[in-house]
Amino acid sequence: MTKRRPLVAGNWKMNGSRTESAALLDGIKKGISSTSKAEAAVCPPYVLIPLAAEKLAGSAVAWGGQNLSVHKSGAFTGEISGPMLKDYGCTYVIVGHSERRTLYGENDAMVTEKYGAAQAVGLIPILCVGETLQEREANQTEAVVARQLDAVLSKHGIASFKNAVIAYEPVWAIGTGKTATPQQAQDVHRFIRSRLATKDKTIAESTRILYGGSMKGSNAKELLAQADIDGGLIGGASLQADEFLTICHAAD
Ligand code: 13P
Repeated sequence: MTKRRPLVAGNWKMNGSRTESAALLDGIKKGISSTSKAEAAVCPPYVLIPLAAEKLAGSAVAWGGQNLSVHKSGAFTGEISGPMLKDYGCTYVIVGHSERRTLYGENDAMVTEKYGAAQAVGLIPILCVGETLQEREANQTEAVVARQLDAVLSKHGIASFKNAVIAYEPVWAIGTGKTATPQQAQDVHRFIRSRLATKDKTIAESTRILYGGSMKGSNAKELLAQADIDGGLIGGASLQADEFLTICHAAD
């Protein structure tokens, strides 16, 4: 079985001044060594990416974007492209976050295109999938996650997952303080991996599947102890260095 290196990635969302972010980046950098088993990454807002690049260069902490345009350049006011993120040293980019899907109308087709645009320039997409509370209560969790996953699989193929990360983020657990139980999360992670395994067992075993949704220092250990949970995509708790580092160390 392929060993999966855990990844803990902070999604800062639309938070942070230059001053606050500089302190946060310094704090995180100090707590992560190159010998850490788990990999750490931060995804700050676009305007703070140059600061992250400057602060984290040469450290063991990677950085990435929260979104990208499907276009490389041109007349697309307000957009940021994959090549631009790459130019600032980004390793990762989040695609299909539920906030993008629900607040900005990104559908499976758009997310799939963004996933491809990221890989086309050598960025590793962190593909977010997850169901709403209504979908969970209607027993549609697996159907929704399968649909979101299959959109990408059918366009880009299973081999593309060699250079991708999946994040399972139940929408009802995001920013609500309501975490999925370790078993609830594990069940969906297992389902995602088995879905990939129907195409290629080796790739399924090596693909990292992160959990996201109110993960914090106090609940990280239990979640990360699950067999198919390979790290976290952290919102609120990634804005405090000590809290974020507690999660990173729990993943070690
Ligand atoms: P919270 O950790 O704030 O619930 O957010 C999770 C998330 O959306 C990460 O992408």
